[in-house]
Amino acid sequence: ALLLFIVVFILTADYIKNRRLTGFPPGPPALPIVGNIFTLDHKRTHESMTELAGRYGDVYSMRMGQRWVVVLNGFEAVTQALVTQGDSFSDRPSIPLYDDIFHGLGVILSNGHMWKQQRRFALSTLKYFGFGKKSLEPMILEEFTYVAKEISAYKGKPFNPHLIVNNTVANIICLLVFGHRFEYGDEQFKKMMKLFEQSIQIQVSVLLYNAFPQLMRCLPGPHQKFKRINEELKDFVRTEVKDHKQKWDPSDLRDFIDYYLNEIQMSKGQDDSTFDEECLIMSVLDLFGAGSETTSTTLRWAFLFMVKYPEIQERVQAEIDSVIGQSRPPSVDDRADLPYTDAVIHEIQRMGNIVPLNLPHVTNRDVHLRGYTIPKGVTIIPNLTSVLFDKREWKTPFTFNPGHFLNEEGKFVKPAAFIPFSAGKRLCLGENLARMELFLFFTSFMQHFTFSMPPGVKPVLDYRFGITLSPVHYEICAKPRHE
Ligand code: HEM
Repeated sequence: ALLLFIVVFILTADYIKNRRLTGFPPGPPALPIVGNIFTLDHKRTHESMTELAGRYGDVYSMRMGQRWVVVLNGFEAVTQALVTQGDSFSDRPSIPLYDDIFHGLGVILSNGHMWKQQRRFALSTLKYFGFGKKSLEPMILEEFTYVAKEISAYKGKPFNPHLIVNNTVANIICLLVFGHRFEYGDEQFKKMMKLFEQSIQIQVSVLLYNAFPQLMRCLPGPHQKFKRINEELKDFVRTEVKDHKQKWDPSDLRDFIDYYLNEIQMSKGQDDSTFDEECLIMSVLDLFGAGSETTSTTLRWAFLFMVKYPEIQERVQAEIDSVIGQSRPPSVDDRADLPYTDAVIHEIQRMGNIVPLNLPHVTNRDVHLRGYTIPKGVTIIPNLTSVLFDKREWKTPFTFNPGHFLNEEGKFVKPAAFIPFSAGKRLCLGENLARMELFLFFTSFMQHFTFSMPPGVKPVLDYRFGITLSPVHYEICAKPRHE
């Protein structure tokens, strides 16, 4: 009888605490305690979430354990929240596992004054290195020569591009933050890349940790490994910072770390400064975390789409041959003269859909959105899948169609619903760098190689769902186009 009483008590308390309040967005019925955790197909969470919008509308709610989540779907609802009502929707929720490791420092996970200062600094430094006096353009083109050599060594035989592309793209972030690249075979580099790869894989346990942080903190499991991996990554960056401090010369600031050290000096004595070495380490990890896997995943989708649609690959190559030729590398200035290639890159990003559920946001006050009331502190998922495949915005949402980005005269146009970098105040701060990398790497690959599947193998567009949506590992052949 006592047990029955306890069960009834827990269920009643759960019902009273967690019932949907009047005016709150509707959504699927939730189980006691666990909520809607089992409503979703976790292998394809982004698709499950998009499908639920068909039943409950563009703004609906779910309960993940004890946490209410509002999912925003379609271009209109997502941009109304992130752009039109951006002041209320731009904070990040607390994520216990990340808070325990990163302490809310840096750009991605911070809020308020810390976020504003760190974001402004990172944006202006990226602008300086990306496009200013110290443009990364020549370095990206030079990095291509290394990856081209690596790929040519396979002499058209099948290889797995996963690690090669990851190394190439990570080196661009290394150049930006450390001021130098690594040889792909360098032991330190290999160790760092392995740690990053592992840190992405383990994130499933984030769900459990967030639901029961006090308990999980004491228990062994993959979350403890996740902590260890991130501490090792911090140590790796700490060593680079130490080295930079020894060689630091304010009259010759070479990279992101040098600039940051300069900022620490300049803001000494200012009470509201958030610039210090721990925050520097986190900002560096943010740039790796946000800027490496994303761009390399997009390039790995690019190869797959090109082998799946060889006629599109041929048309891109023909355009590159006629505008750039073979005797010089591409340049960002060529983009305007390559509308078809540009359209293909955009369509790869749309269909690749590599940050399928965006990063989570949270309401920082009680808000009204599209007739609903959402209290302060509710986690918001601005579902990018539902925007990039929104039937109201795209002619053929589920077909790879570069025509989405071309007008009747064949000129490049960008529909407003193209928001793979999100929108509003939290808009990806590496968008310009990512766009430059994607353009220069993709055109260079198309200029030098023709990609195809190994004989007898059909391209499969399967993905692995996580924070990023990456193609499952595959092998590919790259035939040099010119000796
Ligand atoms: C945030 C996409 C490349 C740095 C984001 C967000 C998305 C995104 C969807 C979340 C925005 C939001 O919360 O509303 C992408 C895609 C990329 C890419 C699709 C490549 C194809 C990069 C690169 C960098 C970078 C190259 C830097 C080197 C960041 C940072 C944030 C962010 C620091 C956090 C911004 C903040 O919280 O204020 N990105 N990103 N990203 N991205 Fe990117």
